[in-house]
Amino acid sequence: MDQDIATVLIDRHAIATRVAELAGRITADIRADLAKEDGDGRNSEKDVEITLVPILSGSFMFVADLIRHLPLRMQIRMLAVSSYPGKATETEGSTVKRELTNLPETLAGCHVLLIDDILDSGGTLKLAADLLREREPASLRTCVLLRKKRDTAMHVPVDYVAFDIPDEFIVGYGLDYNDFYRNLPDIVTLRPEVFQ
Ligand code: IMP
Ligand code: MG
Repeated sequence: MDQDIATVLIDRHAIATRVAELAGRITADIRADLAKEDGDGRNSEKDVEITLVPILSGSFMFVADLIRHLPLRMQIRMLAVSSYPGKATETEGSTVKRELTNLPETLAGCHVLLIDDILDSGGTLKLAADLLREREPASLRTCVLLRKKRDTAMHVPVDYVAFDIPDEFIVGYGLDYNDFYRNLPDIVTLRPEVFQ
């Protein structure tokens, strides 16, 4: 597996540092917002409750690390979205796999944090956000581990981005090529031979 790696774009230490930092910001923002909503600012740590919605499969490693730095009471509801690749390295539209999704019919009163691995065309995040909005959450925030520096991605509004990366195909830390390489601890590019 390691012999397929061309370059390490973001190593495991940089990922860990940034994930912890981002979690701190998310926690502070959510607490501040909910305290405001509460009126008296007494919304203590244990009162703050959120609903996390990770998009499967790519975000599983990011979410596993992120939630260990989020000291908030939370429910985790998975959303399975399948992308239909044109070539295996390009997405051409996505659909929600309802049978793999444990989302409740309504999200009324829920403060939702939607999490995806990477913002590429932006189609997946937009699809998922629209589906959640239909269920009328009290608030909806979005978070991605990676955002590609390309126009389509940069134009999708997202609240939290861990890393902006060049428009290259990457794998590792949950992200795959044909469902392989998800277990790599670093975010890497692959040698061109791998795609032949
Ligand atoms: P979208 O184009 O923003 O809808 O991204 C759809 C999905 O494509 C992401 O959730 C990833 O699963 C996958 N994807 C996009 N770019 C990459 C990449 O560089 N490596 C691995 N998966 C990717
Ligand atoms: Mg994928």
